[in-house]
Amino acid sequence: MPSIFPLHVLAPYVFLAATSFSASVLAHSHINYILINDLLYRGFDPTGRFPNPSNPIGWSTSADDDGFVPPSNYSTHDIICHRDGSPSKAHAPVKAGDKIHVQWNGWPASHRGPVMSYLAPCANLNTTDGCGSVDKTQLLWTKIDNSSPVLISEVGGPPGNWATDVLIASNNSWLVGIPADLEPGPYVLRHEIIALHYASKKDGAQNYPQCLNLWVEGTEKEKRAPPAVATKVVSIAPGAGTPATRLYKSTDPGVKIDIYSTLSTYVIPGPTVVSWATPVPLGRQEKLSMSTAEGTPVLVSGTRTVPFPAKATVEL
Ligand SMILES: *[C@@H]1O[C@H](CO)[C@@H](O)[C@H](O)[C@H]1NC(C)=O
Ligand SMILES: *[C@@H]1O[C@H](CO)[C@@H](O)[C@H](O)[C@H]1NC(C)=O
Ligand SMILES: *[C@@H]1O[C@H](CO)[C@@H](O)[C@H](O)[C@H]1NC(C)=O
Repeated sequence: MPSIFPLHVLAPYVFLAATSFSASVLAHSHINYILINDLLYRGFDPTGRFPNPSNPIGWSTSADDDGFVPPSNYSTHDIICHRDGSPSKAHAPVKAGDKIHVQWNGWPASHRGPVMSYLAPCANLNTTDGCGSVDKTQLLWTKIDNSSPVLISEVGGPPGNWATDVLIASNNSWLVGIPADLEPGPYVLRHEIIALHYASKKDGAQNYPQCLNLWVEGTEKEKRAPPAVATKVVSIAPGAGTPATRLYKSTDPGVKIDIYSTLSTYVIPGPTVVSWATPVPLGRQEKLSMSTAEGTPVLVSGTRTVPFPAKATVEL
């Protein structure tokens, strides 16, 4: 059951700009980079405007218009990791419990909606390189953040602030909490905005899924703990989670919706957030100081990692 959040202070509201923009002419967005503990890891730029880095942790896509996946394609492979999504070899190293600052390349204010994050483990998917050559159709997604409450009321303001308003106020970024006790290993982070500005129209919602490879390390505390001390670990059991092609339906109440009407509830699309998730609440979303220090992504080889780009002499 999706969660329902009441909108307490929503006055009837006329959104005058509702018809003044066109879905087809706006430039949309992609994830530029992420920051983990002040170190920067590069995403994939599908637009071709800039050369891509040699070691992006963002999956490549063919969405060169920075565009979206419509509800009519919710059951196609496009919804998994965007159009022609293909895994990156490089993974960003992150510790369980860290917060990842996800930097979008801008976001249009009109494109209001929820911001959601999912994890899919690549362990047990018959790869030798973590998520680097994973078959995306095998990925099963566990929701770790639904940006709830998607709408926060604002006295005298528009009909609540959507998660995207918070994202824009944070310099187009979002903090994703990696669950505190997550089992180490390779994971794909699927971060997604659903823009609802046209969602009352047929096939009008716009999904912007973005996939990034992570290598989750144990915490320092776990590393120091003697082996006899059992550390609390949460793991995503093989078979748990939802294939991306079954996350949403075009008829979901949070997908087919008129956001310019007076809303009393919003039903967040997709599965519920798992109980052990550690999302960063809306009130604690904030822009982190801009870092220019580049982190070193890793290549995964079985249960080991090596810095990427790998030296020619490193055997994988
Ligand atoms: C939806 O999927 C079809 C078939 O894969 C594709 O031809 C079409 O371009 C997709 N539509 C959008 C808007 O991405
Ligand atoms: C992994 O390989 C084994 C042995 O070939 C096979 O039985 C299993 O179905 C494969 N698992 C996946 C997820 O492909
Ligand atoms: C905001 O994000 C942009 C990248 O989109 C970055 O260049 C800029 O430094 C950021 N500003 C702050 C204050 O962090």
